[in-house]
Amino acid sequence: MSDLKNTEINETYSMYDCWLKYRVDLSLEFIEEYRKLCRYIVVYENQRLITSALNELKTAIRNIFGFEPEVYNKSIDAPHILIGTTEDIEEVGVELRIECKLGREGYIVQHIQKDNHQVLLIMGNDERGILYGIFHLIRSICIGKCIKDTEIIETPKNKFRIINHWDNISGDIERGYSGKSIFFENNRIIKDVSRIKDYARLLASVGINGVVINNVNVHKYETRFITDDYLPDIARIADVFREYGVQLFLSINFAAPIEIDGLPTADPLNEDVRKWWKKAVERVYKYIPDFGGFLVKADSEYRPGPYTYGRNHAEGANMLAEALKPFNGIVIWRCFVYDCQLDWRDRSKDRAKAAYENFKPLDGQFMDNVILQVKHGPMDFQIREPISPLFAAMEKTNQMMEFQITQEYTGQQKHLCYLVPMWKECLDFDIYAKGEGSYVSKIVDGTLFGREYGGIAAVSNIGDSKCWTGHPLAQANLYGFGRLAWNSELTSEEIAEEWIKLTFGSDKEVVDTIMSMLLESASAYEKYTVPLGIGWMVNPGHHYGPNVDGYEYSPWGTYHYADFRGIGVDRTVATGTGYTAQYKEPLYKMYESIETCPEELLLFFHHVPYTYELKSGKTVIQHIYDTHFEGVEQVKKMREKWASLQEKIDKETFELTLSKFDIQVKDAREWRDVVNTYFYRRTGIKDIHGRKIYE
Ligand code: GCU
Repeated sequence: MSDLKNTEINETYSMYDCWLKYRVDLSLEFIEEYRKLCRYIVVYENQRLITSALNELKTAIRNIFGFEPEVYNKSIDAPHILIGTTEDIEEVGVELRIECKLGREGYIVQHIQKDNHQVLLIMGNDERGILYGIFHLIRSICIGKCIKDTEIIETPKNKFRIINHWDNISGDIERGYSGKSIFFENNRIIKDVSRIKDYARLLASVGINGVVINNVNVHKYETRFITDDYLPDIARIADVFREYGVQLFLSINFAAPIEIDGLPTADPLNEDVRKWWKKAVERVYKYIPDFGGFLVKADSEYRPGPYTYGRNHAEGANMLAEALKPFNGIVIWRCFVYDCQLDWRDRSKDRAKAAYENFKPLDGQFMDNVILQVKHGPMDFQIREPISPLFAAMEKTNQMMEFQITQEYTGQQKHLCYLVPMWKECLDFDIYAKGEGSYVSKIVDGTLFGREYGGIAAVSNIGDSKCWTGHPLAQANLYGFGRLAWNSELTSEEIAEEWIKLTFGSDKEVVDTIMSMLLESASAYEKYTVPLGIGWMVNPGHHYGPNVDGYEYSPWGTYHYADFRGIGVDRTVATGTGYTAQYKEPLYKMYESIETCPEELLLFFHHVPYTYELKSGKTVIQHIYDTHFEGVEQVKKMREKWASLQEKIDKETFELTLSKFDIQVKDAREWRDVVNTYFYRRTGIKDIHGRKIYE
């Protein structure tokens, strides 16, 4: 490993610091130049966020160079780092080489000459911009960029970059695989906020600016979060996040007026209900003046909502939006609305159609401080789904993307599954909302339809596990989500490389090995779990492990319709559920025709015989066998790759990760054998390669 002389690095606990270890190879040539500039810092303001940013820079300098920088609030006669907002810097008369207009939260990092001195300028359009600029500088030094390559002008692509926690006050986390909540414990809000502070730092370092701290399924006690019982403690948490520019949001229960104050109804058009919400919102802002707003799961999976009162989702959302508007708060209204009491005998019903059917007719009816939060696929966070057609259908409505960092359906943090490539595919997808070039990223950032609000949210994968994410390598997903939400043009490789270098250092073998593991991990997972787009072959409830018929006769609307002849869901207009028509042309035709439907989604859109021949010349059944065998081999290789790094990774992280790979190898094998055996028994068709499939 490179020559590391940095201080304050706790090797035994190294994954706790995630990507903020601040280690640098001090033998690198350009380091001297940074060292000179880092001796002195000039900063004109001591506003709270700037103080956090400054402290972060000081910590980095201490860790990297082992000295304490001197800080001044006036111009000095030596090389230095100059920090300020656009206004400060103009006042002190620094001429910028690059003329530019920085957007909200944007920043410049630039190397300039001032009074015969080298100055490294970090100028933010606002305080958050400064914080992000400083994290950019630290990141650049730590991944080995010279000063010239550090120069940048950046503005976040997405206005809202939010993490959703599915944490309950009990301390349990719904779909959490990293231990208990860092916010709640035994039905109380946690007293010691030090870990929350460390978390806020992590989030800010990748540009996250919002956090919803409680589960979208709002239960009895959490319903009261918007009352005096809990708000003082929630305000303490908001304060910790505020220090890092992260706004706090809460999930609310639509039936709160009934449950908290015994109102006879929660009808959004009822005057008393409307007044009730206004008062509730005023109360929240009394405690948390910069509160972000509400996240709402309504009329979904048994949660209450406007349908109970014959009202629609626009009426429900607007009631809350009206209450929040005077405080600049927003309503994030989820579109995960579907009937979870379907009859599997009724082949005309298709859960995939639900979000579009519920929301498309309401386009244009939502207030401007409402954002619809849409899951990336029409079903539920499967490793392979088409993009939700709703994104193209709501021109007059703010929309936000919802991803899932927690690996509910992608290996539950026992399997390595780097999700950034999948998220990239979603964001880079051309959905033809306004003809060619209508990328989903442009819809969620608001630019395609000229919407003011937009963004990306994702369900958190952290808990109180020592390394935050259960599986040490799952940190890459949290890091990657933040970076992608900031700039969706970054590539999966760029993000992976940054993360690896920041986390494990720049040793070439380490970087190359982990990079190849990350990049192949999602496709390996897909191979042994979701052949040709058919998902849900998992155990009901906890969603882990193979169970081909686990959801086949259930009310959840998640079927594969496999019989002895064929498999797949016919979603065509011609002979199936008609879901394909929710896409604009040419996508509708592309999915409708079995000839042009992308093969990785073949069984999502079409029902075909097992002997149907794919473009590769293989039959569907042979493809199922092959991918399951291949997937397991890939996992074994990933384990070997990790094992080869033993000398280069700290012991604790090495062993913990290896133990995860042991589980992954074993469970992938189980997936392979159960799925292959199931289809072999159904079809009687043998593997042409004669590999072991059980009778
Ligand atoms: C999935 C998940 C639930 C979650 C729901 C949601 O169905 O299994 O735990 O509540 O998504 O997104 O609301």
